[in-house]
Amino acid sequence: MQDAFDLVIFGGTGDLSRRKLLPALYAGLVAGRVNADTRIVLTSRSGLEGSTHEWLSGVFERNVPACGVEAASLKKFSRMVSVVELGLMEGGDDWVALKAMLSSEDRAIVHFLAVPPAVFTRTCELLGEYGLNGQNARVVLEKPLGHDLASAQAINEDVGRCFDESQTFRIDHYLGKEAVQNLLALRFSNIMFEELWSARTIDHIQITIAEDLGVEGRGGFYEGTGAMRDMVQNHLLQLLCLVAMEPPARLDGDSIRDEKLKVLKSLKNYTGEEIDRNVVRAQYSAGAMAGEAVGSYTEDLALEDASTTETFVALKTYIENWRWANVPFYLRTGKRLPDRFAEIVIQFKPIPHSPHKGWGKHINPNRFIIRLQPEDHLALRMMVKNHGSATEALKEVEMNLDIVGDSGARLGPYLRLILDAARGDQRLFVHRDEVEYAWRWVDNIVGHWEQSGAPLKMYQAGTWGPYEVHDLMVRDGRQWFHETSGRLGNG
Ligand code: BG6
Repeated sequence: MQDAFDLVIFGGTGDLSRRKLLPALYAGLVAGRVNADTRIVLTSRSGLEGSTHEWLSGVFERNVPACGVEAASLKKFSRMVSVVELGLMEGGDDWVALKAMLSSEDRAIVHFLAVPPAVFTRTCELLGEYGLNGQNARVVLEKPLGHDLASAQAINEDVGRCFDESQTFRIDHYLGKEAVQNLLALRFSNIMFEELWSARTIDHIQITIAEDLGVEGRGGFYEGTGAMRDMVQNHLLQLLCLVAMEPPARLDGDSIRDEKLKVLKSLKNYTGEEIDRNVVRAQYSAGAMAGEAVGSYTEDLALEDASTTETFVALKTYIENWRWANVPFYLRTGKRLPDRFAEIVIQFKPIPHSPHKGWGKHINPNRFIIRLQPEDHLALRMMVKNHGSATEALKEVEMNLDIVGDSGARLGPYLRLILDAARGDQRLFVHRDEVEYAWRWVDNIVGHWEQSGAPLKMYQAGTWGPYEVHDLMVRDGRQWFHETSGRLGNG
């Protein structure tokens, strides 16, 4: 088990902490991954009314699936947690008290900033002023890291004045997902995948993050942010980097980041006209999910006027380098879609010649499918002889790779990333240059939308987006994988 550490969650009684961080830490304690001597300090503007134990029990009741919390473990966990009242804009006695709580031993201190980015700078300054940024300290920054390149640079500069890059951990929780880490293991520990991983054999790559939820309750944040900034700038581009990067010489933080950065720098930069043709932006209107009527985006946010914020983006892009020349990467993400899943589909080229003439079956290209959620799943689609059939015939089968095995319950991405930060392991975090290059690319597209007033398409909640999303593929003679026949699971 990893050494105990101190974790300070700024915004500790807020939404991210309640929904993701505390349940993940609790699960980590129960699974024996989190040392019971770990101290968790939650900062809050107003403190708690009742005891920490009562508060935690209410938090878990709402956020940990039924039967997930057990009295003895909750008691043990409550002993690890303290809630302190602390102002994030001004120093004072509360900061002195915080320091006194933390500095008694020589252990790692992780400051997790689960607060709006507008507060990052001041919080980091105060951490510096109170001597809480020593060599054993690390700062974890939750997205959004700015709103565009300029604001991201300003945050990076400000944080950089108080913490070294080696102490700065920018979270993209997609990197903490098991299947994403497995992608690296698979690519760089198996000769057969790496040998096939290029424009020579790959026809195209699809990356999808589909969500069934809408934006209820996200109020001010989502309006004015939109899917491009909320999902593409970070999660989708990070997945793209991991799929496309060159094998790093070593698996350390710097080597991985260097390779990811090269991918971001090689992304094709579209002109305005190319953006109109290759990037679809859309917003959901009222529709139905699983037979229940649901409202439109503007209704969900109770907006009085129409909004131009997109809840869906689909795009085609290219990585302009030797390995990926002319291989399209199709990315899409949307809210209020019929299903929730995230997956990467690597579609190989068709075979150049078939000797199986007359076997009566279309020969589908090989596909390698990496499912990140809801389940971790790897599958390879191949053609085989239809076993035992009297006539000669081919059929497509799916070879499923059992990556979960008997490894037990899967621990959430946030736990994995917090433990990595405590150990100072930056492999699954995002370097400031990556954030900035991703913004550069996104700003070009968003800037064009803003300048040209590019039309926003509408799609009904509960559908797979407007026609143009389908057309993005079809006009290239391709299809989204979930639209192809023989889709397992999601029809
Ligand atoms: C967050 C976005 O980063 O990721 C949300 O801000 C989105 O809008 C969420 O819903 C999706 O994460 P996951 O792990 O549930 O797919």
